[in-house]
Amino acid sequence: MDKAQILVASNRGPVSFSINDDGSLGHRRGGGGLVSGLSSVAAGTDTLWVCAALSDADRKAASSAPEGRLDQAGYDMGGMRVHMLDIPPATFANAYTSVANSTLWFVQHMLYNTPAQPRFGAAFRDEWADYRAYNSAFCEALLTGAAQNARVAVQDYHLALVPRMLRERRPDLRIAHFSHTPWAPPEYFRMLPAETARELLEGMLGADHLGFLSRRWADAFLRCCDAVLRAPIDWERRTVEYGGRIVDVEVHALGADIDELRERAAADDVAERRAALRERVGDRKLIVRVDRTELSKNIVRGLEAYRELLREHPEWRGRVTHLAFAYPSRGDVPEYREYTESVRRVAREIDEEFGTDDWTPLLLEVNDDYPRSLAAYQIADVLLVNPIRDGMNLVAKEGPVLSADGCALVLSTEAGAADELGRDALLVNPFDITETARTLHTALEMPDDERRARCERLVEKASAMPPQRWFGDQLRALD
Ligand code: G6P
Repeated sequence: MDKAQILVASNRGPVSFSINDDGSLGHRRGGGGLVSGLSSVAAGTDTLWVCAALSDADRKAASSAPEGRLDQAGYDMGGMRVHMLDIPPATFANAYTSVANSTLWFVQHMLYNTPAQPRFGAAFRDEWADYRAYNSAFCEALLTGAAQNARVAVQDYHLALVPRMLRERRPDLRIAHFSHTPWAPPEYFRMLPAETARELLEGMLGADHLGFLSRRWADAFLRCCDAVLRAPIDWERRTVEYGGRIVDVEVHALGADIDELRERAAADDVAERRAALRERVGDRKLIVRVDRTELSKNIVRGLEAYRELLREHPEWRGRVTHLAFAYPSRGDVPEYREYTESVRRVAREIDEEFGTDDWTPLLLEVNDDYPRSLAAYQIADVLLVNPIRDGMNLVAKEGPVLSADGCALVLSTEAGAADELGRDALLVNPFDITETARTLHTALEMPDDERRARCERLVEKASAMPPQRWFGDQLRALD
């Protein structure tokens, strides 16, 4: 019998490329739940992963591989077939940067400054046509060689139209779509042009199974189906009826991969970075944050809360250091470039206001260094995770897992992770700087026993749904 077939569609692939100093192409395996989840099923299955070239180096690799097949171009893809699409740059820019990252991401995270944005004019209609073309390129690549009844796992807001496109061509396929973002309530979602809102929901409802990271996001999606499509919702069974079909809407709360994390964190490069960080901060208490420099991550208010802590509680001056790792992200979106500037500005202000000859209050690092992030998790006394809105936030789950002596977690109520971690974290309203400052103080002062006990419970909850189970459950839902 042929091996069962699994098709995966995700904007980002299991590897990304960079051009080395000598002009050669370096590639690194991606992280994330999807790669780990797939690795557990890949051995017994025939897996095809379709992704897009995201950088010039990716494009170079994709265009020189036979039919974009990286596995056939000599790269180690862990036993999977990987097709990296070389989308024409103008189509890609409209679909990925303008629609996915500057529109859909902003809607789902409710990031608009509404007196000025969004503005949906003729330019948006053109961008949307390219988003459709982008989704259609994924659909074609998935259909090439798709076996009868193959299971398809489509990922995220970049590819919301793919399920319906596949369904129209191949009703035999069993299709799941997973949203890694929050979902906006209908009052906000309806900012999208009416026909766009419809097309998005109808696109996703082409699937058999829709997955979300939190009950809140799944509920918001169902409410949008009701408000925009007038589709009947069965709130007990959590299904939507649309176009004569019933679609399941379920929560799969992705957790940390404890084993993989601990193994990676035991490597020498992590130990070296841990020693280097210790050397820089001495025996001071450490408040750590690790994020992409992302509007939704709320880094600026986090820094302002730290500033308020130092103003209101001068006793901490000289006794605490804030490590803020803010890795570059989406530099082609103007709002992100401005945001990165604001992060740097507030960091400078903090340094000027409080820095002394022998104390640097804040270490802001903007270069991506994964082993250094793991080292920071190990030695953090307090982990600050304060997004405005976040699908899950895995930092909140991974930090406690690696913490050597138990960290206190200060966590936004608006992160999906708060569903599971809310009892043992210290929850904050991400917009309330004063509350965040006070909570940082409480976290720093937390007695050792309480901090360790809370952290143990955080680890238990953070690891309840390892990626292998998370992905396996979605596949089983299609059987
Ligand atoms: C979020 C999205 C992912 C995306 C990631 C990084 O987690 O849900 O789909 O890959 O951000 O975004 P980027 O587009 O910068 O790779």
